[in-house]
Amino acid sequence: MTRRIVTPMIDLETVRAETPGCDEIIHFNNAGCALSPHPVTHSVISHLQLEQRIGGYEAASQAEKEVANFYTQLAQLLNCESSEIAFMESATRAWQSALLSLDLKAGDEIITAGNEYVGNYISILALARHRGIKFRTLALDADGLIEAEELDKQLSKKTRAILVTHIASQRGDIQNIKAIGEIARAEGICLLVDACQSVGQVPLDLQEIKCDFLCGTGRKYLRGPRGTGFLFARDQSTASFIPPVLDLQSASWDAAKSFTVKKNASRFESFERNLAGQIGLGQAVEYANSLGMTHIAARIQSLADRLVVGLQSLQGVRVHELSERRSGIVTFSKTGTETGALQSHLHQQSINTSISKRNNARLDLDREMQGDVIRASLHYYNDCSEIERFIQVIDRF
Ligand SMILES: Cc1ncc(COP(=O)(O)O)c(C=O)c1O
Repeated sequence: MTRRIVTPMIDLETVRAETPGCDEIIHFNNAGCALSPHPVTHSVISHLQLEQRIGGYEAASQAEKEVANFYTQLAQLLNCESSEIAFMESATRAWQSALLSLDLKAGDEIITAGNEYVGNYISILALARHRGIKFRTLALDADGLIEAEELDKQLSKKTRAILVTHIASQRGDIQNIKAIGEIARAEGICLLVDACQSVGQVPLDLQEIKCDFLCGTGRKYLRGPRGTGFLFARDQSTASFIPPVLDLQSASWDAAKSFTVKKNASRFESFERNLAGQIGLGQAVEYANSLGMTHIAARIQSLADRLVVGLQSLQGVRVHELSERRSGIVTFSKTGTETGALQSHLHQQSINTSISKRNNARLDLDREMQGDVIRASLHYYNDCSEIERFIQVIDRF
């Protein structure tokens, strides 16, 4: 497929100037943890300094506007209500809280797929081992995608949840969550989407994506601080689901022997949290909103296309994405080279990448690969000269 060349509408000079790391390194590890822009770092440090000066609780009272910004910006990014968003410490905690709020019983079934994130899959295995939950794992098709029709066939009366990772950590194919959402909605089955690698990378419209829960993390394509994440819980379909852990934020203690759980997504939140991180994540989402997700996605896509073409032109290099639904995550290997040694060599040349390990993708990479693969993940602030340099270093290694 030839992709349309989209003129990126992002002012590269400005975004690079606001990303100090660009002067020092070539950062192709955005799927691990992206470089935060100045306004994000500034907002985090300012709040920490305020806490240092006047006290943590007092700083929280003064920062109500900045905290509220997190909900309004994320609601704008995802096209949902701000009351449907909970701040979480990580995507893993968000995903687990959502799934456990379904109050699954022995014999209930859940469905996942071969691209599932390692942490999520371990939780599924634990649910099966300790609580008797049954699960099915859909094999990916030859293009590395989940076939919606195949998923439909696997549903049974006992299916309580469909779990889908939108873009996997180990490989950059984009799953068709809209088609999966249609099936889940038609069957009345809860759909939980892991959008860790897609939020901030591709547009997500929750009026079009018919999921009930969606979780994301702050540090990756959103460019937020570490230790931050979020959960979207659709009001219409999840209001009666009670999170596995409650506290004074998620519920109120009405009388000595009674309590009421909050109605909106804040029932998934904890009272204690990294407030500076939450404010910083709000800033990061505001930054993405101001650039526009369509522009961000188009620029990432055109950079990734360029990288793939460059890699494919090199002898012995194989790109491992299988479909035409590719993202900014590009995985590859080079015949005769050890992945760890190549990554270290890149690191010595001030180029950051990461490794997709077979052990963390046992149902996916393990099917076809002899070893681990290099993951280069691009963001809109990367540029073409960085890609050229990268290709050159790989070629010479
Ligand atoms: C697809 C996917 N899901 C979930 C996670 C976990 O996110 P967190 O570390 O915020 O829990 C990651 C992190 O790499 C991921 O890539």
